[in-house]
Amino acid sequence: MVELGPGTGKLAARLLAERLQPEARYLGLDVSPGMVALASERLAPWGGRAEVRRVDGSLPLPVADGSCDRFLALWVLDLLDDELSAGVLAEAARTLEPGGLLCVAGLARGPGGVARLVSDAWEALCRFRPSLVGGCRPRELALPASFELRHRRLVTSWGITSEVTVAARLP
Ligand SMILES: C[S@@+](CC[C@H](N)C(=O)[O-])C[C@H]1O[C@@H](n2cnc3c(N)ncnc32)[C@H](O)[C@@H]1O
Repeated sequence: MVELGPGTGKLAARLLAERLQPEARYLGLDVSPGMVALASERLAPWGGRAEVRRVDGSLPLPVADGSCDRFLALWVLDLLDDELSAGVLAEAARTLEPGGLLCVAGLARGPGGVARLVSDAWEALCRFRPSLVGGCRPRELALPASFELRHRRLVTSWGITSEVTVAARLP
């Protein structure tokens, strides 16, 4: 499993502890040295099965073609510009084995009511003062043709909407 932008490694620890097979291996790639240190410390109990590496934000990612069965990017693509975000999805297609699953979560446009007001305000804020919202903004995921959509759901919590997408790498 490869995760782009694992942050503190909280999800990875939970997956390793509760979900993944004993032989599964995890690789996290993050641009922040602080996050790499925190995630590495959190994942230390899994020894050689879990590794977190610092990347410089450029592509390609240091992952071999077709070498992983899961590729996660959670609340990361909404930080990147459109070109880099499309590049990351192309990298997910390159590194996933056929049938492997991509999971992306990120800020999305609210479906209506308060959620829509919040996402519109967020977008406006990000246009004028990106630093106030950490540079992330609601966006629509453009899934490349090399994936088949398996699951897409909007989740709104405290007025903030995220979209969760799961897609399979076509052979
Ligand atoms: C908003 S945090 C999300 C962390 C984690 N995925 C979560 O859901 O809690 C974004 C993370 O992505 C990392 N990041 C930002 N741009 C990146 C890039 N181009 N490549 C890899 N990691 C990146 C940040 O350092 C940070 O750890």
